[in-house]
Amino acid sequence: MRVAYVSLLAASLATAGVSAAYSILRPPFVDPASNKHNQRVMTPNDLGPQIPFEGKPHRPSNNDAGGNGDLTISDILPSQRQVNIFAGLTRDISSLTTRLESQLPSSNTTLLAPLNSAMQNLPRKPWEDRPDDTSGVSAESNENKASSNLRRFVLEHVVPVSPWEEGQKVKTLWSQENDSGNGAREIWWERRGGGDSGETEKKVIMPGEVVVDGVIGRVGNGEVWSLKGVVNYE
Ligand SMILES: *[C@@H]1O[C@H](CO)[C@@H](O)[C@H](O)[C@H]1NC(C)=O
Ligand SMILES: *[C@@H]1O[C@H](CO)[C@@H](O)[C@H](O)[C@H]1NC(C)=O
Repeated sequence: MRVAYVSLLAASLATAGVSAAYSILRPPFVDPASNKHNQRVMTPNDLGPQIPFEGKPHRPSNNDAGGNGDLTISDILPSQRQVNIFAGLTRDISSLTTRLESQLPSSNTTLLAPLNSAMQNLPRKPWEDRPDDTSGVSAESNENKASSNLRRFVLEHVVPVSPWEEGQKVKTLWSQENDSGNGAREIWWERRGGGDSGETEKKVIMPGEVVVDGVIGRVGNGEVWSLKGVVNYE
């Protein structure tokens, strides 16, 4: 009984998170099909065909953070309600959804998922241009630019290894895809506090010292870590 209730609750919260992602984070483009050409906030119906989320059927009784070899990140992500705004954004990137479903060891992933509170407090929307953007194309008026900004934001949070050892420097999927200029940066994690310091030990993602709130999922193809901030987002 409890399992059924929990999975029902998780499903409805995951749905709420996806619509929150649309309303908070999607670019407010003019709908080209509309005659009115006035700017307005998009609704999910304006988004056109979405890549279907092809998660496997959920097996909620196995759904825990204690490690489960049969499940994938894609199976457990919809029930992680504290990160469901970010989770909603991952679904638009088909190469990433394929990776998160994959059981191949080479596809092991540590997914760094900012908490909903971190997503809601961003200084600008993930689809908007970075302050250091010099491309000359504005995401405000170019949908491809907006989706490439969003893609960068999401892929900056995908570490293509698991287990990810302390101090192990890795290129995120974004850095792998864009191995040039500033894109080729590496990230790693360190411990802070603990021992004699009197502070609770925590993990931070470096550079930037983004605090890890916890490991919220541990499955066959990797782990989901929730973050109190976002990675590489000046
Ligand atoms: C992939 O992750 C699994 C489960 O955590 C682990 O047993 C395996 O060694 C990892 N494989 C690689 C290549 O990292
Ligand atoms: C890679 O990143 C650099 C620096 O951020 C940027 O100038 C360049 O346009 C990017 N390349 C691609 C293919 O996105």
